Amino acid sequence: AWGGGALWAVSLCVGPRWVGGDCGRGPHGCGPWQRPRIRLRPVKVLVIGSGARENAIVRALTLDSSVDAVIAAPGNPGIDAIALCRDLPHGVTDVEGVAALAAALGVDLVVIGPEAPLVAGVADAVRKRGIACFGPSAQAARLEGSKAFAKEVMAEAGVPTALAHVCTTVDEVVGALDALGAPYVVKDDGLAAGKGVVVTDNRAQALAHAVQCLAKPDGRIVVEEFLDGPEVSLFCITDGTTVVPLAPAQDFKRAEDGDEGPNTGGMGAYSPLDWAPASLVQDIVDRVAQPTVDEMRRRGTPFVGVLYVGLALTSRGPRVIEFNARFGDPETQVVLARLVTPLGGLLHSAAIGKLDEIAPLHWRPEHAVAVVIASKGYPQSSRSGDVVEGLSEVGDNAYVLHAATALGKDGAIVSAGGRVLSVVATGSDLAQARDRAYDLVDRIRLKGSQHRTDIALAAQRGEISVHG
Ligand code: AMP
Ligand code: GLY
Repeated sequence: AWGGGALWAVSLCVGPRWVGGDCGRGPHGCGPWQRPRIRLRPVKVLVIGSGARENAIVRALTLDSSVDAVIAAPGNPGIDAIALCRDLPHGVTDVEGVAALAAALGVDLVVIGPEAPLVAGVADAVRKRGIACFGPSAQAARLEGSKAFAKEVMAEAGVPTALAHVCTTVDEVVGALDALGAPYVVKDDGLAAGKGVVVTDNRAQALAHAVQCLAKPDGRIVVEEFLDGPEVSLFCITDGTTVVPLAPAQDFKRAEDGDEGPNTGGMGAYSPLDWAPASLVQDIVDRVAQPTVDEMRRRGTPFVGVLYVGLALTSRGPRVIEFNARFGDPETQVVLARLVTPLGGLLHSAAIGKLDEIAPLHWRPEHAVAVVIASKGYPQSSRSGDVVEGLSEVGDNAYVLHAATALGKDGAIVSAGGRVLSVVATGSDLAQARDRAYDLVDRIRLKGSQHRTDIALAAQRGEISVHG
């Protein structure tokens, strides 16, 4: 069902313009009075992106009874099965193309999945058209777009993170590597799809990565102190003022079992984290997310969307490894598998500056596990065009989300990139969720595909502990 639903005149801040009074909160900036065209609920939602994360977001939105229509652009064949997909001929970073599509569709809310459109300013262009948008402005998305900028904000906000040196020359890199010692952590300053970081004991390899990054135009790198301890991803929904944390998850960044091999975008995830201290989430909100959101607002570049806090729980306490300006992939797949609170209402509240009115979130007590099936060669390369079989298999409390898939000539689903599918399962404990996920993984066939077999295994065995 399209549209329908009464339009309500309400006093809400929805974009660069202000409807019906003085907002005072400022996250979106206020301007002259504008004809109110804001719905109280996000009836029609446009989701930008084409990964398994967006498939999970679309799936959750279709389960929200206040949402009548979900459109994804460009989406993928898995999304197409549950929502409408629209082309973006010039891609997701085509700022005006996305804003024009949102306006033409008459959506109430745009949810931006990946980082590239955020850094390019898609959220700004959408808001300029008076459409509510879940996702930070280009200025605020620099928290992800530049690691050096993130470090500067963290220093200003007193947020605990790794010691770091920002370097633009090889001499500076050599000095920083020697000052911090092994293991060496070298990060490309800009966006690199999770592949810009090298962590190694091999000094020559660390230096080679730095040299490669510095060779890019405006190349800049960050050399960082090594952080030891289990990693946690915490998604904090924010309207620029109020912060609402979701359930924490753990991601598996390395390509191979046992955390071997190169870094990837993420090969699997699980949630919740039974081994984490009960106070962890509030502690991270108080020490990391709220101070960062407050600092961004103080700078006049409020952050609206999801602040992804990636942390290491070290013997000296939690330390931020990275900020992202969007939901994580594949953590979103497990977090949304457990969220009972309707997603559309939650994201819409953040987008219109009303997150303080949201009731406490509800969660299913189950555990969720996601396993990524990647194509041969990922992350160094990827194979496309191989037929994916077994997608019609139905698992027990398990389902398949699409990422890099495409419709082949004969209507078959084929691989179209590195991370092809996410298989998600829930269970009463991690063992059951893992069994269900891997049972479905084993029934899906893709030539040369790879997946990790140890997602959530250490947690299931009780092998994860937090220092101190
Ligand atoms: P990032 O892109 O900054 O999230 O880094 C990707 C991955 O590299 C992280 O998830 C960690 O596993 C690892 N990593 C990044 N920074 C550090 C650090 N300072 N110490 C240890 N491992 C790190
Ligand atoms: N799973 C890590 C990320 O989304 O960046």
